[in-house]
Amino acid sequence: MKNSANIGFAWLITISMLCLLANSQLTTNFYSKSCPNLLTVVRKQVMNAIKTETRMAASLLRLHFHDCFVNGCDASVLLDGSEGEKTALPNLNSARGYEVVDAIKSAVESSCSGVVSCADILAIAARDSVLLVGPSWRVLLGRRDGLVANKTGANLSLPAPFESIGNITLKFQAVGAHTFGFASCATFGNRLFNFSETNAPDSTLLDPSMVSDLQNLCPANGDISRITPLDWNSTDLFDNHYFQNLVNGRGLLESDQFLYSSDQAISTTRSIVELYSQNPQLFFIDFANSMIKMGNIQPLIGSAGEIRNNCRVINS
Ligand code: HEM
Ligand SMILES: *[C@@H]1O[C@H](CO)[C@@H](O)[C@H](O)[C@H]1NC(C)=O
Ligand SMILES: *[C@@H]1O[C@H](CO)[C@@H](O)[C@H](O)[C@H]1NC(C)=O
Ligand SMILES: *[C@@H]1O[C@H](CO)[C@@H](O)[C@H](O)[C@H]1NC(C)=O
Ligand SMILES: *[C@@H]1O[C@H](CO)[C@@H](O)[C@H](O)[C@H]1NC(C)=O
Ligand SMILES: *[C@@H]1O[C@H](CO)[C@@H](O)[C@H](O)[C@H]1NC(C)=O
Repeated sequence: MKNSANIGFAWLITISMLCLLANSQLTTNFYSKSCPNLLTVVRKQVMNAIKTETRMAASLLRLHFHDCFVNGCDASVLLDGSEGEKTALPNLNSARGYEVVDAIKSAVESSCSGVVSCADILAIAARDSVLLVGPSWRVLLGRRDGLVANKTGANLSLPAPFESIGNITLKFQAVGAHTFGFASCATFGNRLFNFSETNAPDSTLLDPSMVSDLQNLCPANGDISRITPLDWNSTDLFDNHYFQNLVNGRGLLESDQFLYSSDQAISTTRSIVELYSQNPQLFFIDFANSMIKMGNIQPLIGSAGEIRNNCRVINS
C-alpha cells in the first residue's frame, strides 16, 4: 500500500466518514474572552487527578472518545440516569472518571460561571491526559452540551473488543490509544478459554507467557472485573510499544491483535502497525491529528444544545 493511501486509510483513528459531518467552526480561542483561565484551570485539575491515580489519564481520554462516538462530542456520555449511556454495555463498569470531570467542572464554574460546556471540558481533559506522557495538540473549542443521552447509540456505535477489523473499520474506530490504561478480564477472557462458539479462542496469537499469566489473573468463572494493563511493556507511558506488542503477539485485546494478525490485516492495517512500531514520531503526529478529527465529530454549536450547569444533568 502506498504511504498516502495508508494515511488516507489511517485506521489509527479512522474517522473519515464522520469527518464529513464535522465542521470547522470550533476554534482554539473560543473562550479567550469569556473564560481566559480555562486551560490553566483544567490543566491543574487533570494533573491533580493523575497524581492521585496514574490510570485516570487513560480513563479521561477514553471518556472523550466514548462521548464523541455517540451523537457527536456533546457530553451525552456524562448524563446520569437509567437511560444514560453510562449504563450501555461498553461503558458499564468500565468507563470512569466522572467524579474527576465533576471536579474540573466545578473549578471551571468558580472561575467563569455558565460559559464553558462539559463537552469542551472533556476535550481539554483528554488532551491534558496525554500531554505528560505523549503527544499534544491544540484543542478546538466551542462545543455545546447535548440535551439527550443515547443508550442504544452507545450500544451500537462503540466497538466491542471481539469485533473483526471489518467491523471496526466500519465503525471508524481507533486503537492507538491502548498504549496506556487498563482492561478487565471481561474484555479479553474470551481469548483464554473456550467461552463461546462465536468467539473462538485465538490464544495462538497471544504470547504464551501472557496466556498463562492471564489465565491466573482471569480463571474461568473468576472475577471478570479484575484488570491488567493494556500495554504490559510500558504500562503508564503513551508510546509506540502498543504497536511493537502487536508485532510480537502481545496485544491484550483481540480487536487490537487482529490489526496485525488477522487475514484482513495483511492487506490493510498490518503495514501501518509495522510503520508505527518503528516510528514513534509518526505515531504521535498521526495520533494528535486523529484526536483533533475525533473532537470535530458533530459538535453542537451556536444556539444548539446548552451549557450545562452540572455535567450529569440537563438544565431544568
Ligand atoms: C477498535 C476500537 C476500540 C475498541 C474495541 C476498544 C475497546 C476497549 C476495551 C475493551 C477497553 C477495556 C475496558 C475495560 O475493560 O474496562 C478499552 C480501554 C481503553 N480504551 Fe479503547 N477501544 C477502542 C478504541 C479506543 C479509542 C479510539 C480510544 C481513545 C482515543 C481508546 C481509549 C482507551 C483507553 C485510554 C482505555 C483504558 C481506559 C482506562 O484504563 O480506564 N480506545 N478499550
Ligand atoms: C444494549 O445492549 C444490551 C446487550 O446487547 C441489551 O441487553 C440492551 O437491551 C441494549 N440496550 C439498549 C438501550 O439498546
Ligand atoms: C442514537 O444513536 C443511533 C446510532 O448511532 C442513531 O441511529 C440514532 O439516531 C440516535 N438517536 C438519537 C435520539 O439521537
Ligand atoms: C460484524 O457486524 C455484523 C453486522 O452487524 C455482525 O453480523 C457480525 O457478527 C459482526 N462480527 C463480529 C466479529 O463482531
Ligand atoms: C479450545 O478448544 C480447542 C478445540 O475445540 C482446543 O484445541 C484448544 O486447546 C482449546 N483452547 C483452550 C485455551 O482451552
Ligand atoms: C516486552 O516484554 C517482554 C517480556 O518481558 C520482552 O520479552 C519483550 O522483548 C518486550 N518487548 C519490547 C518491544 O520491549
